[in-house]
Amino acid sequence: MGMTYEQALEKLQQCGQAHLLKYYEELNKEQKAELLAQIEETDFSVVDACKHMDGVAERGKISPLKAMELAEIEAEKEKFREIGVEAIRLGKVGAVLLAGGMGTRLGSDDPKGMYNIGLTKDMYIFERLICNLMDVVNEVGVWIPLFIMTSDKNQVATEKFLREHDFFGYDADCVWFFKQEMAPAADYNGKVYLEEKWKISTSPNGNGGWYSSMEKEGITEILRLKGIEWLNVFAVDNVLQRIADPVFVGATIDRNCAVGSKVVRKNAPDEKVGVMCLEDGKPSIVEYYELTDELMNAKDEKGDPAYNFGVILNYLFREKDLKEMLDKKLPLHVVEKKIPCLDENGEQVKPQAPNGYKFEGLVLDMIHEMDSCLPFEVVRNREFAPIKNKTGVDSVESARALLQENGVEL
Ligand code: UTP
Repeated sequence: MGMTYEQALEKLQQCGQAHLLKYYEELNKEQKAELLAQIEETDFSVVDACKHMDGVAERGKISPLKAMELAEIEAEKEKFREIGVEAIRLGKVGAVLLAGGMGTRLGSDDPKGMYNIGLTKDMYIFERLICNLMDVVNEVGVWIPLFIMTSDKNQVATEKFLREHDFFGYDADCVWFFKQEMAPAADYNGKVYLEEKWKISTSPNGNGGWYSSMEKEGITEILRLKGIEWLNVFAVDNVLQRIADPVFVGATIDRNCAVGSKVVRKNAPDEKVGVMCLEDGKPSIVEYYELTDELMNAKDEKGDPAYNFGVILNYLFREKDLKEMLDKKLPLHVVEKKIPCLDENGEQVKPQAPNGYKFEGLVLDMIHEMDSCLPFEVVRNREFAPIKNKTGVDSVESARALLQENGVEL
């Protein structure tokens, strides 16, 4: 037996969301049941995060975290590669594609990975990522287990697309899908939107929940059965990144770190990227808007900027360390987004500009839960081509140019 109308109303009144039952009387029996069930399972407390938005969250004491720079990597490259290849060959490394986001900035209704960036032929984002992973499969001679995170909003489309394209040549038996969780989305006053008269607006709860979603969906059991010890988590939108890169894997193992993070050298002191640092002695990432002038101008012993390496959302986590953080709560980030909703007349609208907040946990906050982190420098123009927007900075256009610069035919 689910919640009754009265119980739902009481729950909503307690958190100031009773307006969600505004159309209840107009609904048919199934719709009523659907709405009550959703109210029952939704955690509305996340919305409280938007009440504490004046000012940036308190940070601990920030100090520099040394990155492994290109010259150091070059000097030990063959050793790292051997260690990495061996770990991959023994099946200890899995890849996790974070593809649960809505990609609203790109403005397509399809999952971002379905976007075709080809010019003279089809070249889908998913295809490009699988090609990158295949480079390592071919080098090492084993399939690398690939776990794909989707959400309620794009699971069906993503899986259908990849199956229709035969996973672009990847072994279907080495691919698993799992769904992340959703969170309610609200207007600027913290009132949760409806997207239908019987449906609360929800959106994926950020990329920080990937490991706990793996656990909930039973995927961590597969990790155990297969003896996977390392997980390379990567974003769907960087079409140049190396995935399960043996040198990166080997360096992280060799330095005995709980996590490795691919980083690029900042191209200006005020570049808008999160940079690696220590916070109260533990690895962390300080966002560009939190970087004070003092931190921006700080120098290391060589005279280089002390906070000079930005993250690109490509991390290698040691799985046993992730298990330990399952019970910890990650901070929630309040993000302004375009949220499809009903207007005051009950008509569906698809906003052209942001109209409220989503609530997200971020993978970068997991870094702070780890005891040690190796920032691993990669050459920006060879490994970083994110597609966030249609045109301009970090766009389809800029990524195409970078792919071509790297000899990829489009
Ligand atoms: P972005 O921060 O670029 O977010 O995601 P997004 O929500 O997809 O895009 P916009 O802001 O609406 O345009 C970085 C990576 O994290 C994944 C994305 O799919 C992308 O690979 N992600 C993001 C998730 O897997 N789940 C989420 O809830 C959010």
